[in-house]
Amino acid sequence: MIGVFDSGVGGLSVLRAIRTLIPAQPVIYLADQAHVPYGPRPLDEVREFSRAISQFLIQQGAQVIVVACNTASAAALYHLRQTFPETPFVGMEPAVKPAAESTQSGVVGVLATPATFQGALYASVVERFAHGVTLLQDTCSGLVQQIEAGNLNGEDTRRILENALLPMLARGMDTVVMGCTHYPFVIPLIQQIVGEAVRVIDPAPAVARQTLRVLEAHGWLAEGDAPAPVRFLTTGDGEAFRRMIVRLLGKVFPNPQVEVIQWDEQIHPELVY
Ligand code: DGL
Repeated sequence: MIGVFDSGVGGLSVLRAIRTLIPAQPVIYLADQAHVPYGPRPLDEVREFSRAISQFLIQQGAQVIVVACNTASAAALYHLRQTFPETPFVGMEPAVKPAAESTQSGVVGVLATPATFQGALYASVVERFAHGVTLLQDTCSGLVQQIEAGNLNGEDTRRILENALLPMLARGMDTVVMGCTHYPFVIPLIQQIVGEAVRVIDPAPAVARQTLRVLEAHGWLAEGDAPAPVRFLTTGDGEAFRRMIVRLLGKVFPNPQVEVIQWDEQIHPELVY
């Protein structure tokens, strides 16, 4: 079984890619909506949430964990691998490498949270792959909350994206990287703003391929194509999460069941089921 987590609905963009590639693999997806957004929080706080969530997912039977959140990957990936050496972790990093390889203009936009831009992971990606490329960064403040609220196309969402993208376009950007797993859900709006000539990179299919390789390497890959069950859990409002799953992934999951779990504030941060 694969464990997948994010602060909220963003990781569903990664789950969608995993489901397309390996439908027979059972999945447990946890949305930490009690704490969304992660992006403005200190890295050590996000690291603690990620540790407790990973422990919980392992207890529930997850063999591989996909950190379907750039912010949690930036804050915690290294520590998770140290803390749970038996469990392989697949993380996210902003897709600067494919962007740098394919840009013609040499100007690449990166949209990610403040915590992702602060982390050592982003610095290392930039150092390794961004030679000779101008990177323009924006945190799209407030965009995660708009997407959590299901506002994929409204005025506020458009304004946040225009403020980020129009100055990048004016500087010659021809490629833009989704450095937060929530943002692929507004790609239609992004593409409207930047035009079809600008390439938008969603790393989810690459993360799904990496997950497949890890499963294969451990001999854990499920056989066949028959869709396996997916458990959805949230630390927030179960009904609101259920509606968003149907809204975002209704074709794949027309009738999701959502379980609600809680943070135990006494022994914070541990999850109780
Ligand atoms: N979806 C997450 C990411 O990829 C986190 C967004 C947030 O909670 O701020 O960074």
